[in-house]
Amino acid sequence: MKKNILITGGTSGIGFNAAKTLVKNPENNLILIGKNINKGELALRKLREISKNKNITFLNCDLSSLAEINNFFKVNKFSKLDILVNNAGAVFFNKSLSKEKIEKTFALNHLGYFLFTHFIIKKKLIKKNSKIINVASGAHWGVDIDFDDLQMTKNYNGWVAYKKSKLCNILFTKKLSQILEKDGIKVNCLHPGFVQTNFGSNNNCIIKLGISFAMKFGGININKGTETLLYLIRTQKKISGEYFYKNKISPSSNFSMSKVNADKLWDKSLELSSKYL
Ligand SMILES: NC(=O)c1ccc[n+]([C@@H]2O[C@H](COP(=O)([O-])OP(=O)(O)OC[C@H]3O[C@@H](n4cnc5c(N)ncnc54)[C@H](OP(=O)(O)O)[C@@H]3O)[C@@H](O)[C@H]2O)c1
Repeated sequence: MKKNILITGGTSGIGFNAAKTLVKNPENNLILIGKNINKGELALRKLREISKNKNITFLNCDLSSLAEINNFFKVNKFSKLDILVNNAGAVFFNKSLSKEKIEKTFALNHLGYFLFTHFIIKKKLIKKNSKIINVASGAHWGVDIDFDDLQMTKNYNGWVAYKKSKLCNILFTKKLSQILEKDGIKVNCLHPGFVQTNFGSNNNCIIKLGISFAMKFGGININKGTETLLYLIRTQKKISGEYFYKNKISPSSNFSMSKVNADKLWDKSLELSSKYL
């Protein structure tokens, strides 16, 4: 049966590696989203080299920008999805701002997932009984969120901002799974492991080198690091609202399990993106 699968951040790392496996099934129709058009075209060429599957599209969007996401859904049309994978993410060690002047780690890693998914649902671009998969991280452990200072205006630290944004991914998953229960849409998130990818490459040379060194010696290879995502895409059909690691439901922090926290994040996210909904 034909399956329409959209992967944000599908041009590199975990998203691209998942696409390399999925493209081999001629029944899969893939839509990859990325910010860098050259990387998008290169990803398409590579996928066409390894498969005869013609059903691959690259669409460009800077997912850290609320206005760009809003515009993306005005100009792009695609068939209803069976699977949405919110995966595009990055860490900004030096504080950066999105086009709308929102702290960029939070804007891309959380508001990007939030607003993109909002439009997918609002425009009825997802089938009933489909799946939404959010790539979160084990980095969410050890932090909480100040809902009155989501953008860390007082004391910015890039790594802590990243950890908090990944905590947001779990809270978002919990809330969205409740909202979409009536439609049979399953929403889950995952930790892929510490994976050898291009993650961190948007930072300065020293940080870039440090991260790639840590990945080379402490990280798992990309195929291992894509296993849980592929498991959720291909196998898991019944469970919703859970955090997976190594193909199994895994514990996540107490903060991430709180319904009150999930509600607060939802309300604040609506507020921040209200102009673009
Ligand atoms: N690698 C790990 O150890 C690890 C561990 C836990 C969780 N994760 C999570 O896994 C996800 C994927 O990361 P990765 O490790 O595969 O990193 P990666 O190799 O750097 O890939 C990131 C992807 O996100 C896209 N992206 C980044 N900024 C974007 C933007 N503003 N708009 C649109 N697309 C954007 C990139 O496309 P462009 O190049 O076009 O920007 C790229 O396709 C992230 O959510 C990350 O937090 C990774």
